[in-house]
Amino acid sequence: MNIYITENIPSLNQKAANIIAAQIIMKPDSVLGLATGSTPIGTYELLVEYYNKGVLDFTKVTTINLDEYQGLAPDHDQSYRYFMDTHLFNQININKNSTFLPNGLAKDSNLECQRYNQIIQSLGGIDLQLLGIGENAHIGFNEPGTEFKPNPHLVTLTEKTRQANSRFFPSIDDVPTHAYTMGIKNILSAKKILLLASGTSKAKALYHSFLGPITPAVPASILQLHNNVTIIADSDALALFPQSMIC
Ligand code: PGA
Repeated sequence: MNIYITENIPSLNQKAANIIAAQIIMKPDSVLGLATGSTPIGTYELLVEYYNKGVLDFTKVTTINLDEYQGLAPDHDQSYRYFMDTHLFNQININKNSTFLPNGLAKDSNLECQRYNQIIQSLGGIDLQLLGIGENAHIGFNEPGTEFKPNPHLVTLTEKTRQANSRFFPSIDDVPTHAYTMGIKNILSAKKILLLASGTSKAKALYHSFLGPITPAVPASILQLHNNVTIIADSDALALFPQSMIC
């Protein structure tokens, strides 16, 4: 596990964008596992900048996202499809048919989970999975629980997650109660994992995930079992980490 501490959010974004850019340059047909949330927005901005400067070509890249709210249409401004289109896909030369998210409007949630799993399998492995982390240590929408669910599934969002995400909605009542997420096995099967975190609100989650026991009560703790995890975080998020562990 590599842990990089960055002075501020711009340098966090710079480091993250450089790692993703290097992945695309080294392997132009990379499969990228992507994340939404406020943390990666600046990273996506830099990837768009690199594209505009002619440094990156996305024509052969495939992306698969971690999660999507159930019940939100792709053009709903809080759907994760809308987020990805706005922050990244509409601004680069990626083939939209090579960008995958769960369908929030699927009529049959079991079939949708099976469909998403088949897509993940058909891509032949995620080269680089980008992750944020929830204040409750969720990854994707794998919420704290009593088991690690391996494959895509429909989740009942915890009150804490709905509260954290209510800042993007008119009120907490508008935050969907359910979401589709990739499972833990899907995430762990990525060749490389890049986790971004900033702010004191993530400090406990990071500490328990990487220095505590591996338990489904702390979903990100499963990442201790992955052999290629890079964490990029600011000093607030890493406040509880011993200095000796940080690059
Ligand atoms: P955030 O969300 O980037 O908006 O903090 C991260 C997450 O909940 O996974």
